[in-house]
Amino acid sequence: MSADSDTIARASALIADARDICVFSGAGMSAESGIPTFRDALTGLWAEHSPEDLATPEGWARDPDLVWGWYRDRADRLRTVTPNAGHRALADLHRNRAAVGGGVHIVTQNVDDLHERAGSTIVSHLHGDLTTPRCSGCGRRGSPTDMLTEPRPSCPLCGASLRPDVVWFGEMLPGDQWADAERAVDACDLMIVVGTSGVVHPAAMLPERAAHAGTPIVEVNPDPSAVTAIADVHVPGTAAAALPRIT
Ligand code: APR
Repeated sequence: MSADSDTIARASALIADARDICVFSGAGMSAESGIPTFRDALTGLWAEHSPEDLATPEGWARDPDLVWGWYRDRADRLRTVTPNAGHRALADLHRNRAAVGGGVHIVTQNVDDLHERAGSTIVSHLHGDLTTPRCSGCGRRGSPTDMLTEPRPSCPLCGASLRPDVVWFGEMLPGDQWADAERAVDACDLMIVVGTSGVVHPAAMLPERAAHAGTPIVEVNPDPSAVTAIADVHVPGTAAAALPRIT
């Protein structure tokens, strides 16, 4: 589906008028880079496993080698993909706004680093970061090489196992990332919501927070989502096709 010219014009006008823009992105942002969603990735060797096996503290306690292997494979695959035209459009938009003292402040639910690789500065990785692990004991961060290591490495300081630095189902979001996200939402004069179903809480509260404050929302998503009802403009297109047209 592609957006009509009136929709593109309305979204473009809101973006052109804004100085500080908060982008809230989800899995659809990276789909055209070839990153499968969590469920779509459960194929081949992983087809017999459930999200409960692979993405919960209980799954980790039961079989840490299995969980480590799953995230190690995803981290390895991430190295083979590149940012798409949507990621690049947001980085260009930031440079353009920085020139007038504003910016594009990205809050993402994605654990990939494609926004950063396109040249954006990330305010908040709400659901963690796949590229570097952290110690399950003392919390010290490991290196990108550690994340690609098999068998599962141990912390050189305390000896506990390293774990993926992602937020599993049933875990709290990192408090500092949440606080930074709220600040970015409160400070912006426009929010762009892209590639998220808007149903996973607490992240989904951020567009509601913006709408409650009277901040206009432009949504980019080929399909309607839980955010569409509170968006001022819904652009029915993909991230890579629509973002370059409206920014
Ligand atoms: N461009 C833009 N949007 C797209 C594209 C695309 N190319 N392809 C799909 N979408 C939209 C879908 O229509 C859907 O609304 O992206 C959304 C993806 O929704 P989810 O799979 O629910 O992803 P997300 O909202 O990021 O989920 C939040 O849930 O699985 C957990 O922790 C994981 O961070 C994730 C969280």
